[in-house]
Amino acid sequence: MIRSLLVAWPILLLAQGEEYATDCSFPIFSTDLKCGDKLGDRRTFYEDYIEGCRQYHGPQKAKRCDATEADRIDMNNRQPQSMVNYTSTGFMKIRAPKEVMALLTRHWETNKVNMKEEQWPVGSIYVNYWESKTYMVSVEDTKLRGAGATLKEKIWDAAKSTIEQWTGMELKPTSMYGIRMYTDGAVLSPHADRLPLVSSCIINVDQDVDEPWPLEVYDRQGNAVNVTMEPGDMVLYESGSLIHGRPFPLKGRFFANIFIHFEPTGRPLYATGDEYLDELDDFLPPYLVPGSPETAHWTAQNPHGWKKSGPAAPVKQINAPKGHFAAAVGDVDRIIELSEKDPLSLHRKDANGWAPIHEAVRSGFTEIVGLLIEHGSPKDTRTGHANEGASPLNLALMYHGEDHPVVEYLRSIGALDIGEGEF
Ligand SMILES: *[C@@H]1O[C@H](CO)[C@@H](O)[C@H](O)[C@H]1NC(C)=O
Ligand SMILES: *[C@@H]1O[C@H](CO)[C@@H](O)[C@H](O)[C@H]1NC(C)=O
Repeated sequence: MIRSLLVAWPILLLAQGEEYATDCSFPIFSTDLKCGDKLGDRRTFYEDYIEGCRQYHGPQKAKRCDATEADRIDMNNRQPQSMVNYTSTGFMKIRAPKEVMALLTRHWETNKVNMKEEQWPVGSIYVNYWESKTYMVSVEDTKLRGAGATLKEKIWDAAKSTIEQWTGMELKPTSMYGIRMYTDGAVLSPHADRLPLVSSCIINVDQDVDEPWPLEVYDRQGNAVNVTMEPGDMVLYESGSLIHGRPFPLKGRFFANIFIHFEPTGRPLYATGDEYLDELDDFLPPYLVPGSPETAHWTAQNPHGWKKSGPAAPVKQINAPKGHFAAAVGDVDRIIELSEKDPLSLHRKDANGWAPIHEAVRSGFTEIVGLLIEHGSPKDTRTGHANEGASPLNLALMYHGEDHPVVEYLRSIGALDIGEGEF
């Protein structure tokens, strides 16, 4: 086991291209790019980018581009280092919960014919709208079918527990933006989100691209990591501390995303009493490090301090999603822990009739599928509440194709390929 990890690691690194840090692909902390021609002539690329904004706005307003750009870099310097982090990596890619995708796909498919050009504030440099327009199929535009507060509530509700389990903190919704459609040539300059956009996710709803359009983030060592997304992928990220952007232009027709944001209430998910309230600062939100560079800025904008959520809601029953989440993200240790403490949670179906084994298959974690079967999940258990859905092998073939290890494994134990509604 250990040996195979050591062998696999260098191959992974090679596949991802050469390593580089901040201020290489695009200015992060400084406009003085320091990687020479490693990624091509990024200096000229950047100068053209800012010049594009100035030209678009004309001589009277061009200064606004420079001011916004200076703000972006200031914020990158000030905010991430001031944030409390709740995860070890700061980001993670999983498949979006089915109920979230169902709501988003429906909204997108129903309303994309009525998409509107997105309006950007004068001098904004977050996206190169002067070169490559962005469009919105907004979840809040009440002129669109099904849009409005109720849809937003449903989406927040459906996404919340996934991000809560990832961060280990109770969350409350703070913002939702999208569905934004980027077009050919789009660039998103790397930034940290304004507070209180703290615990967040990006979901790719649809795309038509010639090559993957990477989201660039920085790992805790400060190295760039490209995260690619397929429709239905969900990138969880600590958006207030993780600098994220898309500095390489989109090649293709479009890429449609939604951004869903929460802030921690300060209550750890498994807290049973209200003692955690004593730990909270009297003025600052729980996710800001007292005395850090962002506190002065935050205080100027929030002169009355942060509003605590008050006493915790009664402890929620979150047994059902436990095994599902661990299976979906490939958390082997958690699966083993649950097999001892709460074995039923490894086999229970969720509201959509999916068991953890289906999640593990969809995410492609062969080891987890094996563990679940070892602990009693039937190898051909079907999705749905009346056992009318797809078998694990059927899902594996659908999501990964014939050559995937999870398919090979399921075939090796004699699993059956039963499709939805088949008997
Ligand atoms: C990220 O993707 C870009 C564009 O494809 C590539 O030039 C760069 O080397 C990649 N970076 C990493 C860290 O893999
Ligand atoms: C949180 O993460 C950011 C980005 O990696 C880092 O700069 C910051 O120091 C971290 N916060 C703490 C309290 O360690």
